[in-house]
Amino acid sequence: MVARRSLRPPQTALVLGGGSDIAAACVAALAGHGLRTAVLAARDPDAARARMAAATDRVDLVPIRWDVLDTGALDDLWSTTTQAVGTPDVVLCAVGSLGHHAGLGMSPTDVEAMARTNYAAPAAALAYVAERLAADPGDGRAMVVLSSVAGVRPRRSNFVYGSSKAGLDSFARGLGDALHGSGVRMLVVRPGFVRSRMTTGLDPAPFATDPEVVAGAVARAVAGGRDGVLSVPPLLGPLFAVLANLPRGLWRRIAGDR
Ligand SMILES: NC(=O)c1ccc[n+]([C@@H]2O[C@H](COP(=O)([O-])OP(=O)(O)OC[C@H]3O[C@@H](n4cnc5c(N)ncnc54)[C@H](OP(=O)(O)O)[C@@H]3O)[C@@H](O)[C@H]2O)c1
Repeated sequence: MVARRSLRPPQTALVLGGGSDIAAACVAALAGHGLRTAVLAARDPDAARARMAAATDRVDLVPIRWDVLDTGALDDLWSTTTQAVGTPDVVLCAVGSLGHHAGLGMSPTDVEAMARTNYAAPAAALAYVAERLAADPGDGRAMVVLSSVAGVRPRRSNFVYGSSKAGLDSFARGLGDALHGSGVRMLVVRPGFVRSRMTTGLDPAPFATDPEVVAGAVARAVAGGRDGVLSVPPLLGPLFAVLANLPRGLWRRIAGDR
C-alpha cells in the first residue's frame, strides 16, 4: 500500500450497497475523521438508514432506492447524489451476495446472478462513478471497493462467489491504475471472514473479525490518503500470498469444505 500526501478529511460519501453491515461500520468510523453526510444507495433504503443510524448518529443520511443490477439507473443515482452532497469525497462499494452455498450444485441462473451481483454490475457502477470523480477530483477523492480474500484463490465450496470477487478485485486494481494522476485514488479492501449479516449462521473461519475492525482500517487508510490493497487483518496479505501458490492438492486439503 502506498502513502500519499495528506488530504482534506472526507466529508461526504456515497455508499453503494448502503445496507451493508461493514459499510455501516465504515461510515461510523469515517465520522471520526470528519465525515458529515452519507448517501446510502440500497435496495431497501429504509432498512439501510435504520442500520446506519444504529451504527452512528454523527452523520446525516440520504437513503436512495437503488439496485446494482439496474445499470440504467446510474444517471438517476448520480443526479440524486450530487444534488445532496455534490461530488462525494468517498465512494464505498459494499455490494455483495454470498448466500450459504456458492459452489457446485448452483443453478446456471444462480451462478449468473452471483457473478452479476458481485462483479459485472458493481464494475459497471464503479466505472461510471470513476469517470465522474476524475472529472471533478477536488482536493482528492477516494474509491473504496470491498473485495475479499476469497478472490485470491478459489475454494471448492465457494468458487462462484470467490471468482466473482476476484474479477471485481482485478477490475478495481486496474481502474485504480487508470485513475493514477487523476486525483482519485483506489483502495481495494480484502477482508477475511467478517461476522456480519452476510455470514450469519456460518462457522467463523480462522482470523475471523468484526465489521468495526475492517472499518477502522478502512477509515485510517482513507483519511491517510492511502491507496492500493488493504488486507484485514493485515496478516492475511502475506498468508494468502503463500496460500495462492500452494500445490492444488495441498490447498484442497487446507481449504476443506469451507
Ligand atoms: N462478511 C464477510 O465475511 C465478508 C468478507 C469479505 C468481503 N466481504 C464483502 O464486504 C461487502 C459487504 O458485506 P457485509 O459483510 O457487510 O454483508 P451485508 O451486510 O450482507 O452487505 C452486503 C450488501 O450488498 C447489498 N446488495 C446485494 N445485492 C444487491 C443489489 N442487487 N443491489 C444493491 N445492493 C445489493 C445488500 O443489500 P440488502 O441490504 O438489500 O440485502 C447488502 O446491503 C460485500 O461486498 C462482501 O462481499 C464480506
